Amino acid sequence: MALTDTYGRIHDNLRISMTDRCNIRCFYCMPESGVKFVPKPEILSFEEIERFARVAVEAGVRKIRLTGGEPLLRKDLPRLVEKLAAIPGVEDIALTTNGVLLADQAGALHAAGLRRINVHLDTLDRERFRQITRRDDFDAVMRGIAEAQRVGLGPIKINAVAVKNLVEPDIVPLARFGRENGIEIRYIEFMPLDSQGLWLRDKVLLQDEMIAMIERGIGPLDVIPDADPRAPALEYRFRDGTGRIGFISSVSRPFCLNCNRIRLTADGKLRYCLFAIDETDVKGPLRDGSGDERLLELIRGTVRAKWLGHEINTAQFVPPPRPMYAIGG
Ligand code: 5AD
Ligand code: SF4
Repeated sequence: MALTDTYGRIHDNLRISMTDRCNIRCFYCMPESGVKFVPKPEILSFEEIERFARVAVEAGVRKIRLTGGEPLLRKDLPRLVEKLAAIPGVEDIALTTNGVLLADQAGALHAAGLRRINVHLDTLDRERFRQITRRDDFDAVMRGIAEAQRVGLGPIKINAVAVKNLVEPDIVPLARFGRENGIEIRYIEFMPLDSQGLWLRDKVLLQDEMIAMIERGIGPLDVIPDADPRAPALEYRFRDGTGRIGFISSVSRPFCLNCNRIRLTADGKLRYCLFAIDETDVKGPLRDGSGDERLLELIRGTVRAKWLGHEINTAQFVPPPRPMYAIGG
């Protein structure tokens, strides 16, 4: 059965946050210090996650992505990947990571059945990496990407957050790097999800500005017409036939009308939108002996309650009560 909301959108995509902790501190997500993390006992166990996923698949979910915080901080992640891959009906498991710990874990993740990974990397400049993440882990991330390719994880995508007056010098070098290495760069417009309220509309580097920079620096781009209409990214290929790039343009081109996602936070709250204000507790039911029927009801109810979309572009916009690291990207 399909998981359909009141606007007819079918939800087959579940993003599960493994932890709200992170080993770096990207300024557009986390404050530099003093972050209050969820206490360990409040974090869902692998068994709880697996059970929830099984019920969600029964409800209609087909694709699962593991996110965070930084999911590779979770001990034994390949064990969970294996469990999820074994659920009948799961068609796809993907991972979003900052890549710092990837070199060590790529082999085990691949062996567990993981294929698709997104690595979060905004710049190829070590100094700017440090400025953005407040950590000196650029080399570790590059090693992680290389190792992921070596063990056969793929397709690899790189998520680059586009913040104005900061990453302009990185846009073209990233696209070149992607072209040379068979990696799709996905530029993500800076969204109002940071913990410190830094977001302003004029701090967003917009898709059209990035396209102009890339066409000037490398060459003409063409929209890929047959790209999945329900995927949030708008994809382009270089006219010379080498490489493709994508844009997640939540600000200049909201894709809410095609949204197919629900999100489970590390502490067991189910959310129908990245920007949702309301969320549904599923940790309680997972721990108080409730049956799968109850979970199924909560999943369907959450999807039924889904709004039409976020209102980033209106004066009424209210940022969600949780920052990105506490939701799961
Ligand atoms: N705006 C846009 N993207 C963000 N990410 C984290 N914070 C923000 C933000 N404020 C991205 C990171 C990560 C993904 C999970 O979310 O690039 O890859
Ligand atoms: Fe960590 Fe990702 Fe947030 Fe950066 S954006 S601090 S990598 S959770």
